This record gives sequence, C-alpha cells and structure tokens, in this order.
Amino acid sequence: MVAPLALIAALSGAWSLLNTSAIYINGTQVPDLGGSNVLGKKPAGYLIYHPTGFVSANMHATEPGSRPYYLQLEQWENTTDAEWALLGKHNLAYYAPYTLEEFSNGNEEHGQLKHGPLLSCTMPSLENTTLVRNFTIVNEGKLLRLRTWDSVNQAWGTLWWGKIETLLPKYV
Ligand SMILES: *[C@@H]1O[C@H](CO)[C@@H](O)[C@H](O)[C@H]1NC(C)=O
Ligand SMILES: *[C@@H]1O[C@H](CO)[C@@H](O)[C@H](O)[C@H]1NC(C)=O
Ligand SMILES: *[C@@H]1O[C@H](CO)[C@@H](O)[C@H](O)[C@H]1NC(C)=O
Ligand SMILES: *[C@@H]1O[C@H](CO)[C@@H](O)[C@H](O)[C@H]1NC(C)=O
Ligand SMILES: *[C@@H]1O[C@H](CO)[C@@H](O)[C@H](O)[C@H]1NC(C)=O
Repeated sequence: MVAPLALIAALSGAWSLLNTSAIYINGTQVPDLGGSNVLGKKPAGYLIYHPTGFVSANMHATEPGSRPYYLQLEQWENTTDAEWALLGKHNLAYYAPYTLEEFSNGNEEHGQLKHGPLLSCTMPSLENTTLVRNFTIVNEGKLLRLRTWDSVNQAWGTLWWGKIETLLPKYV
C-alpha cells in the first residue's frame, strides 16, 4: 500500500494526454464519433497537479475541422460565429482544488481523485461541480490512468496521461 503522501508526490507535476476511450455499461465500445465529440479522435492537453492541492486541466481536439487555426485573438472581422463556436465545442479547461482518497489493498485502482468544486471552467455549467476520477499510476510513475463515469450516457471513460519530465532542477 502506498502512503497518500507518496501518491500526492507521484501525481504532482504535469501530465500530457495520450488517449481517451469509453465503453458503455453493457461492455460495448462507445462508437467512434468521427471527431465530432468534444475532444475528437486525437485530443491534446495537460493535466497539472500542484502539491498545494490544486489541479488544472486544459484539453482540446486537434482536428482542423474542430479547431480553426486561422482565427486570431479578438479579430472578428470576416469571421463567423459558427467558426468561433467550434472552439467552444472542442475545448475543455478548468481549475479546481483537488482531494485524493487512497483505496485499500486489493482494489484494482490506487485511489479516487475529486477535482472540485471547479472554480472556473470553459463550460460554465460545470462550475461548482466536482469531477470524480479513479486513478492508477503505472510504469514507474510515468503513466497515469483516470477512469470516469458518465451517468448521462451510462458509460465508463478511460484517459491515459504521460508524465512530463521536470524542466527545472529537482527540489523534492
Ligand atoms: C492509451 O495509452 C496507453 C498508455 O500508452 C496504452 O497502454 C493504451 O493501449 C492506449 N489506448 C488506446 C485506446 O490507444
Ligand atoms: C449497449 O448500450 C449502448 C448504449 O445504450 C447501445 O447503443 C448498444 O446497442 C448496447 N449494446 C448491446 C450489445 O446491447
Ligand atoms: C475583410 O474582408 C475585406 C473584403 O475582402 C477586406 O478588405 C478586409 O481587409 C478584410 N479584413 C480583415 C481583417 O482581414
Ligand atoms: C458557483 O458558486 C459561486 C459561489 O457560490 C457563485 O457565485 C457562482 O455563481 C456559481 N457559479 C455557477 C455557474 O453556478
Ligand atoms: C471507482 O472505484 C470505486 C471503488 O472501487 C467504484 O465503486 C466506482 O464505481 C469507481 N468509479 C469509476 C468511475 O471507475
């Protein structure tokens, strides 16, 4: 059993989103939405856990059709609201305090993370809500798997993240 302090240390840092997948409660793979879902087929993002108890997540689709790269900040001229709306549909970012609970030995996951209440979110209806994710850290601390439950679609989601090497001299 890993002590919670060790889990906090293992989580702390920056994680890059590797892939996402989902299955319905009946075991069927959630069909590929052809990139039309929020994060598309090749999502990108960082998830940053800070040892002071905050988490920040920043994710978006990468398909050009979901993410008009030619739009310029605050330059609305000759652009349409539909083009800007794509950014709203294919981005998800938030920051929040987080707590973690360690599972007892025998559970296949290391513990449960609660991101929330969300202090800010690009999807305002998620503000003040708490996102619950079971987590497991594998591969000598280099990979993080988060499991989510989507009660609307009755589906389990899996997000894999890879640890980013520290850019600064190690102080811990
Ligand atoms: C996602 O990435 C993890 C870690 O690299 C890998 O084990 C897993 O097979 C990948 N899953 C999908 C659906 O690509
Ligand atoms: C599983 O559930 C999904 C969503 O309700 C449904 O679309 C699919 O057909 C189901 N699969 C089976 C094998 O029942
Ligand atoms: C918008 O289109 C008009 C007409 O083609 C052009 O004169 C103008 O320079 C364009 N503005 C921008 C900011 O691209
Ligand atoms: C979240 O809670 C704060 C403080 O209670 C409140 O001011 C804010 O309006 C709430 N935001 C939403 C989106 O409900
Ligand atoms: C998280 O783990 C708990 C305890 O094992 C379980 O009851 C719950 O269904 C899991 N949730 C997710 C999203 O995997």
